[in-house]
Amino acid sequence: MKKDKFYITTPIYYVNDKPHIGSAYPTIAADVLARFYRGRGVDAWFLTGTAEHGSKIFQSAEKAGKDPQAFADEMSAKFSLAWDVLQVSNNDFIRTTEERHTEAVKKFFEKLKASGKIYEGDYEGLYCVGHEAFIKESELVNGLCPDHKTKPETVKEKNWFFKLSDYAQILAEKIQNGELEILPKERKNEVLAFISQGLEDITISRQNAKFALPLPWDENQTIYVWLDELFNYCSAIGYGKDDANFKKYWPADVHLVGKDIIKFHCIIWPALLMAIGEAIPRKVFAHGFFTVDGQKISKTIGNVIDPVEWAQKYGSDAVRYFLLREVAFGEDGDVSEEKLRARYEGELANGLGNLVSRLTTLIEKFLDGKVKIDTSIFPNDEGMGEAVENFRFHEALAIAWQWVAWSNKTVDENKLWELGKTDIVKFTELAGQLASAIAFTAEQLKPFLPETSEKILKIITAEKITKCEPLFPRIP
Ligand code: ME8
Ligand code: MG
Repeated sequence: MKKDKFYITTPIYYVNDKPHIGSAYPTIAADVLARFYRGRGVDAWFLTGTAEHGSKIFQSAEKAGKDPQAFADEMSAKFSLAWDVLQVSNNDFIRTTEERHTEAVKKFFEKLKASGKIYEGDYEGLYCVGHEAFIKESELVNGLCPDHKTKPETVKEKNWFFKLSDYAQILAEKIQNGELEILPKERKNEVLAFISQGLEDITISRQNAKFALPLPWDENQTIYVWLDELFNYCSAIGYGKDDANFKKYWPADVHLVGKDIIKFHCIIWPALLMAIGEAIPRKVFAHGFFTVDGQKISKTIGNVIDPVEWAQKYGSDAVRYFLLREVAFGEDGDVSEEKLRARYEGELANGLGNLVSRLTTLIEKFLDGKVKIDTSIFPNDEGMGEAVENFRFHEALAIAWQWVAWSNKTVDENKLWELGKTDIVKFTELAGQLASAIAFTAEQLKPFLPETSEKILKIITAEKITKCEPLFPRIP
C-alpha cells in the first residue's frame, strides 16, 4: 500500500512513576514502525509523550513532597531520557502541561460545547484515582479496585456530560466497515460487544479536581483528565494553530495502545472527534500485557523492571529485540531477566554476533579483508516487511533469524575455516554470499536493532573488512 504520510502514536504515559517495560513496549513498537516507514520513503511522524494532569499525579507529587508541576517536569524527563537510551526516534514529545496542548484543549472544548452534545447534570458514582475513571460497584473486590487495591472515592457532584449514547450505532458501523480498524480482532469483537449493550453518556468534567485544566465555560469545573489526554494526538500536530500541519497528518494512521485503554480509544475518542467534526483515527492496535515471572507488574510486588537498567546492562538493541521477540504483539506474555538473558546469549551473542565475528575474521584472514557484496541476490524479504506492516514483529524477527541460522549453518557445513586453506575459489564465493546475506539482514533489521545494524553495515561494507569486536559481549 502506498502511503505518503504515516502518523503513529503511543499512549502518553502518566508521570506518577518512572517508565517501566510496559511503557517501553508500545514505544519501541511504534519506533520500529516509524523507522520502517521512513526507510521506505514515507513521511512517518511518530508522537509519544506524558500525561501530567489529574489527581493521580497530584497525589504522587504530594507523597514525594513536591510541587505537582516540578514533580511532573522531573518525571517527564525520565521518560524522554529512557526513550533516548532505547534509541527511540520519536519526532515529537508532547506533555499535557505544555501551553501548546492546553491552548488546543481549550479550543477542543469550545467546539465540543458548540456541538450540542454537551449537557449539565448530576453525577453520583465511585471514582478510582488509579484509573482516573469512574468504576462500577460491581467491579469492586472487597470494596477495592481490583487493579489498584484502593478504595474508590464516592463522588456526588454536578458535572458536564457528553452524549456518548448518541454514537453507539454509528460507531458500530464504522468499526464493522473498517473505517475504524481495531486490531487484533479479539479487541474489535470486545469493543463491538460492549457497544451493542448501548452506551452511557460520560462526564467530561469534574468538580474542581486537583491539578487539572479549568473547564472554559464553568469555573467550578475542571476538565476530565482522560479527555485532556486523548486530545494530545491533535494538539501535538497543531490543532487550532497550524492548520496546514494538522491537515497534513490527521487522522492518525495508527494509535498503538495497551488493551487496558481500548474503550477510551475506540469508543470515546472517535465519538468526540465526530462531535467536533474531525476525522476519526484509521486504526487502533491494542497490544497485550506483560507479566514478570508470571506475576502482574506492580510496585507492591516489587517486580517493576526499569528498561534503562536493562539497556545499560545488555544494550538497548537487546532490550528492543527481546521485548518484541518474546511475546507476539497483541498477546499477553511473560518476561523476565532470565528470559532476556537466554535470548541475548542464544540468538544475539551466539547467533548474530558470532556469525559476524566468525565471518569477518575469516575474510580478513583469507581474503585480506576483500569481499564482493551483492544484496540483490536476495529477491525478496520472505514476508518480513509484510509482518512489520501487520504488527507481527516477533514473526519479522523470526524470519531474520532464519537467515542468521542459515548463514551460521553454511559456515559450519562448509567448514569455512578450512575451506580458506583448501579451496580459495569456493571460499571466495561462499564468503561473498554470506557477507551479502549479513548485509541484507542488517538492512532489514535496521528498524529493530538500529545500533547493531549500523555497526554491521559499517564493518561488512568496508573496503577492507577487519575482524570486529563482539557485537554482544558476554555479560557477567
Ligand atoms: O493509561 N504490559 O497511561 P499509563 C504492557 N495516561 N504494557 C503496559 C503494561 C504492562 N504490564 N503496563 C502499562 C495511561 N503498559 C493514560 C494514557 S493516552 C491518550 C493516555 C502500557 O501510564 C500500555 O500500553 O497508565 C498501557 O496502555 C499504557 O502503558 C498505560 O500507560
Ligand atoms: Mg495505567
